[in-house]
Amino acid sequence: MQTFLRGRDLISDLDFSKEEVETVLDLAWDLKRKRAVGEPHPYLRDRTLGMLFFFSSTRTRCSFEAGMAQLGGHAAFIESRTTQIAHGDTAKEIGEILGRYFDGIAIRHCDWKEGNAYLNGVAEASRAPVLNMQCDVYHPFQCLADLMTIMEKKGRDLRKKKLVVSWAYASSYLKPISVPQSLILQMPRFGMDVTLAYPEEFMLMPEIEEEARAQARRFGTGFEIVHDMEEAFRDADVVYAKSWGPLLTTDDPVKGKELQDRHQDWITDAHKMRAAAPDAIYMHPLPADRDIEVTSEVMDGPQSVVYDEAENRLHVQKATMALTMW
Ligand code: CP
Repeated sequence: MQTFLRGRDLISDLDFSKEEVETVLDLAWDLKRKRAVGEPHPYLRDRTLGMLFFFSSTRTRCSFEAGMAQLGGHAAFIESRTTQIAHGDTAKEIGEILGRYFDGIAIRHCDWKEGNAYLNGVAEASRAPVLNMQCDVYHPFQCLADLMTIMEKKGRDLRKKKLVVSWAYASSYLKPISVPQSLILQMPRFGMDVTLAYPEEFMLMPEIEEEARAQARRFGTGFEIVHDMEEAFRDADVVYAKSWGPLLTTDDPVKGKELQDRHQDWITDAHKMRAAAPDAIYMHPLPADRDIEVTSEVMDGPQSVVYDEAENRLHVQKATMALTMW
């Protein structure tokens, strides 16, 4: 068990080794149990987290804020537009200065080709660890919560379990590609056979798909890319279907919406779920476009684990903060 994570950043999913992720999960389950029985666990008393948001959030903001309070510390919510970032504070200033005020800096910056570079710029200048609350490339805490949830539902040995990471249609906005990218990087390390499905125009970053293939080779698991949603669902143990924008094809939102609207049949419904294993679970990080990305019948049905998945954000984030911010 690797336990010394003090001061470490978590920006990319692979920043923590497999053993370090296992340490996070072990502590997350312990903290989940402590919360269930009302046992106080103030591991970060008098510690502070600065949470800098360039993009909206429900789950991420609330779970980090609640988590810091439950650990005995405080989280400060900072919206970028209420700061002096627009008037000249660079990533270096934010890292240098917030790193002196806070014991950790958590950032959500999803702008395409900007977010990840910004987080790394802050991390270079910061003496406090930087935690990625979602950027344009990765969403590591969502992925840790997903892994914890899959293990709770399917057991800790996930070898030979089939995970489908599928694109789904949405009409609300062009969603980031960070969730599927994190999933295909992290899950092969835990033995899952990954099927990635998307219409041709919705490919992920080539270097991420290549790294996912390399992880699958290293851990002896399967990795395939298909372009048919129903085919992908066949015999799946875990169906993880969500929308993302065609960012590698176009970063023009109007052209992106046109491409998206061509694939309205990529909806998770009861018919497609019947192709998966009878005990398959349905996952989504939320928010979902109800009855567009996924039918309410599936999202509210017995195979859906979306609320347990959302809850586990709290536990994995508390575990990571407790390990990195003391
Ligand atoms: N899944 C997720 O990150 O939710 P929010 O965008 O509401 O934080």
